[in-house]
Amino acid sequence: MLLQTNSLDAGYGRFRALFGIDIEVAAGECIAIIGANGAGKSTLMRSISGVLPNAPGMILHNGEPIGALSAAAILKRGIAMVPEGRKLFPSLSVEENLLIGGQKRRGSGAWSLQTIYDLFPILREKRALPGTSLSGGQQQMVAIGRALMSNPELLLCDEISLGLAPVVIRDIYAALPRIRETGAAVIVVEQDITQALRVADRVYCLMEGRVTLSGTPDTLTRDAIHDAYFGGHA
Ligand SMILES: Nc1ncnc2c1ncn2[C@@H]1O[C@H](COP(=O)(O)OP(=O)(O)OP(=O)(O)O)[C@@H](O)[C@H]1O
Ligand SMILES: [Mg+2]
Repeated sequence: MLLQTNSLDAGYGRFRALFGIDIEVAAGECIAIIGANGAGKSTLMRSISGVLPNAPGMILHNGEPIGALSAAAILKRGIAMVPEGRKLFPSLSVEENLLIGGQKRRGSGAWSLQTIYDLFPILREKRALPGTSLSGGQQQMVAIGRALMSNPELLLCDEISLGLAPVVIRDIYAALPRIRETGAAVIVVEQDITQALRVADRVYCLMEGRVTLSGTPDTLTRDAIHDAYFGGHA
């Protein structure tokens, strides 16, 4: 397995947000994590990316314990995050935001300023503008490009479609096949279940910090997803 969580618990101070999460991601796979507000999706992404520290053995990368590594060390291992809310550097241009993403670059890989601009041509036109002056969808493209600049083998995307118009969401998701062509695995956190089922090889549903459902999109019925998402008939 490329990445595995092993009874992962996580929280904030005394507050526990995740309870015994077990998920797996194979090389090149696309996983969707779905779940309602507050289910723990971002906490899971923050744990994997090293923003939230965990016990070493709770997260394994190629079988090695990485749960206690820093975010910088995780990035160097090829796990990059597109954070919730994009978090661009406000005083920097589009291109400077992208270059920052390349500072902890892994040696070889598909991504450079040129290939990011080929992926999202609008960013080439806007490269000298402040990143935060762009539209929401364009800022999301910068955030994705910034993560890709590290040449990840696992890309974590936390709600990249949130707050964007359907046509913009389509443009952003159109980049996914080209990202996967590089061999990278992807985890997408999505509240849009249709979008999640469309792109993912496998789906995990979180509710109140626990995995309540998992499987391939073709095996998951609407009723099962509804129950896993909202707590069903309990
Ligand atoms: N920095 C924090 N400090 C304290 N509690 C937090 C913090 N961030 C999240 N939480 C709590 O942890 C739980 C899980 O939150 P998390 O952000 O992981 O959920 P989420 O599934 O990403 O939700 P959303 O869809 O709203 O982004 C929630 O109860 C939330 O209130
Ligand atoms: Mg979140």
